[in-house]
Amino acid sequence: DDYELGGFPDFMRKEMAEQPEAVERALRGRLDERFATAHLGGLGLDAMALRAVRRVKFLGCGSAYYAGQMGASLVEELARIPADAEPASEFRYRNPVVDPDTLYVAISQSGETLDTLAAVQELRRKGGRVIGAVNVVGSAVARECGSGVFLHAGPEVSVASTKAMTNMSVSFAMLALLLGRVRDLSASSGARIVNGLRALPEHIEQVLTTDDEVREIAKRYSKATHMFFLGRVRGWPVAREGAQKLKEISYVHAEAYQSAELKHGPLALIDADMPSVVIVPDDELLSKNLSTMEQIKARGGPVIAVTNAELPDGLADDIIRVPRGEPELDPIVFTIALQMLAYHLAVELGRDVDKPRNLAKSVTVE
Ligand code: AGP
Repeated sequence: DDYELGGFPDFMRKEMAEQPEAVERALRGRLDERFATAHLGGLGLDAMALRAVRRVKFLGCGSAYYAGQMGASLVEELARIPADAEPASEFRYRNPVVDPDTLYVAISQSGETLDTLAAVQELRRKGGRVIGAVNVVGSAVARECGSGVFLHAGPEVSVASTKAMTNMSVSFAMLALLLGRVRDLSASSGARIVNGLRALPEHIEQVLTTDDEVREIAKRYSKATHMFFLGRVRGWPVAREGAQKLKEISYVHAEAYQSAELKHGPLALIDADMPSVVIVPDDELLSKNLSTMEQIKARGGPVIAVTNAELPDGLADDIIRVPRGEPELDPIVFTIALQMLAYHLAVELGRDVDKPRNLAKSVTVE
């Protein structure tokens, strides 16, 4: 283990640090500057087949499901095809309507998650077209799907998924770009996304360099017993993943909420002992996110903003800064900051980050 850790204190930290190179690998040979698109040969779908896709549904469990939610918004934004994500663990039990014009995407780092495999089998039984987004080559989900996109994240040992989850979202950005470019996504918009993807490893590296600041922030909140993670639209799956990471490795109760839903109930929970991590991208919803922070501050709640915007003074108690890239890709970069926050909080609390209690790396039973 010492050798494999290469000087890192644990695998989670090592795998977080590997993310820039993991993303490079996911992008290698797949971006096409000339035609401002992506090539995903493993899908086995030509332009006609891609054009025939009327809907995309992403299925996965835990972090893979949240990556699927990021994928769905990328597909809707770039390709303008209706898309959504669903927990794979629910799928087979609700007698799902399987639509021949839908492209189903089964997402799994390990490729051995029983619930995801069962969703694929349900789809195949009903004649659905399903592709895999899998990290482990030769795994059960990869074999059952037969086609798809490999994540190329490299081996992931830590129970908490970091680099594999990142490469899931990166792969879905390429899928969305490809689906968009066989439709009405312009060459200039395609080129903007290609450039944004190329810049990702550097942007992730920049987030990783804020490690000392994030550690100090984590220390300040290490007494908290509950935390909110709030985001809207693109920020919502980011908030969900942030809350999940904190729960699984620190055992601190965290709840993710869509920011605008706060006033419909959970605002009653806000007080000085309930910190909120607010996802604040510098996009068309910035003013909405600023008012979310105001609402929390007005009720005495501490605010940790994760942002690539310039914030007015006094709205946030603590700020985790991330670089500015293409807005559609913000969720990928923001998620890295939340991994770091969860990691440092867990370490501060003395948790075994690589092997959290009650959890297994891949859940191969019901
Ligand atoms: C992620 O940090 C979790 N450990 C968990 O949610 C995981 O993503 C989920 O169990 C799915 O695993 P898979 O990607 O191997 O299918």
